Amino acid sequence: MPYEVRGVVARGKGEAVSLETVLVPDPGPGEAVVNVQACGVCHTDLHYREGGINDDFPFLLGHEAAGVVEAVGPDVTGVEPGDYVILNWRAVCGNCRACLRGRPWYCFATHNAAQKMTLADGTVLSPALGIGAFVEKTLVAAGQCTKVDPKAKPAVAGLLGCGVMAGLGATLNTGNVTRGDSVAVIGCGGVGNASVLGASLAGASKIIAVDVDDRKLTWARDFGATHTVNSRTTDPVEAIRELTGGNGADVVIEAVGRPETYKQAFYARDLAGTVVLVGVPTPEMTLDLPLLDVFGRGGALKSSWYGDCLPSRDFPMLIDLYLQGRLNLDGFVSETIAIDEVEEAFAKMHRGEVLRSVVVL
Ligand SMILES: NC(=O)c1ccc[n+]([C@@H]2O[C@H](COP(=O)([O-])OP(=O)(O)OC[C@H]3O[C@@H](n4cnc5c(N)ncnc54)[C@H](O)[C@@H]3O)[C@@H](O)[C@H]2O)c1
Ligand SMILES: [Zn+2]
Ligand SMILES: [Zn+2]
Repeated sequence: MPYEVRGVVARGKGEAVSLETVLVPDPGPGEAVVNVQACGVCHTDLHYREGGINDDFPFLLGHEAAGVVEAVGPDVTGVEPGDYVILNWRAVCGNCRACLRGRPWYCFATHNAAQKMTLADGTVLSPALGIGAFVEKTLVAAGQCTKVDPKAKPAVAGLLGCGVMAGLGATLNTGNVTRGDSVAVIGCGGVGNASVLGASLAGASKIIAVDVDDRKLTWARDFGATHTVNSRTTDPVEAIRELTGGNGADVVIEAVGRPETYKQAFYARDLAGTVVLVGVPTPEMTLDLPLLDVFGRGGALKSSWYGDCLPSRDFPMLIDLYLQGRLNLDGFVSETIAIDEVEEAFAKMHRGEVLRSVVVL
């Protein structure tokens, strides 16, 4: 018997989301049904709603979630009912060319549930990032469930499921930031401020936070920024160079996802420095850079999917740091909201009032 639950659905491009009845199948082989306890509102959910990811409407939104496993399919051994888990969108396959080369964080064939969740009339839903978690219960591949210490509250733990992990990992894994590095982060929403926090954790000597909104910059200070720049009033490239002896930062993280901010990142890094693009662009965006500058400035231009994380390695470790009081994850939870308040949360995100609104179920 499928479960009948409530979930947040985006029916069409730019249309307000609605709370709908969702049918969740019993878990089949390799699958798990999870009772979602909390799910953060990520900018990527808004990208889906705006048609910026693809056109596979209707979407079941939500993908930064924690909860408790309700049921597992017949052959599942990794998790069992009652386990407290963070949902991940990188259930690695173990067999693709990336996995076989020992680089599973690049896995090219990650697992999702084989069965589909549907609306009451049978319309198949596309779950955001293969999860779909603004819903009371969701169906995922069992490998998408990563067990963590249940002492961490769901509203906080769930954030590691996407944006905060992406930001932390952009710095720690993709940017390879280490002690003594100078780091600049352009765009200090939930993702960018997690990059700031990652730089602080890694021992970066200078952490320059850039945003167009002073509220984000105030929060950036709480996560360890040593300097802040409001790029609405100050040229960020010049400011970052000035703060780094005229050179630029060793690592610049772009956490907006726009060509103009990418260019700022490109020119704000030191020679042989690294740019990490963690912001997600939309399909029509293009980048125009002098090829000679790309060559002449050397270094590395990287993009970071999910912070190049390996959930099984990174989630339990980061939750432990959090429980020891060494990783300020609480600072990302701006507010907790009910499941029917996601549309309002998008508006608050748009107005820059929150780092994360978190749906608590
Ligand atoms: N790569 C990944 O795996 C991954 C994962 C999650 C989210 N993302 C993406 O990261 C981006 C940020 O997500 P978020 O949830 O933090 O969104 P957000 O809306 O909370 O944050 C975006 C921030 O950028 C700032 N900003 C906007 N225009 C700017 C400009 N011109 N210069 C400087 N700052 C500017 C905003 O004020 C805001 O603080 C989005 O594109 C999202 O889709 C990527
Ligand atoms: Zn793989
Ligand atoms: Zn996300």
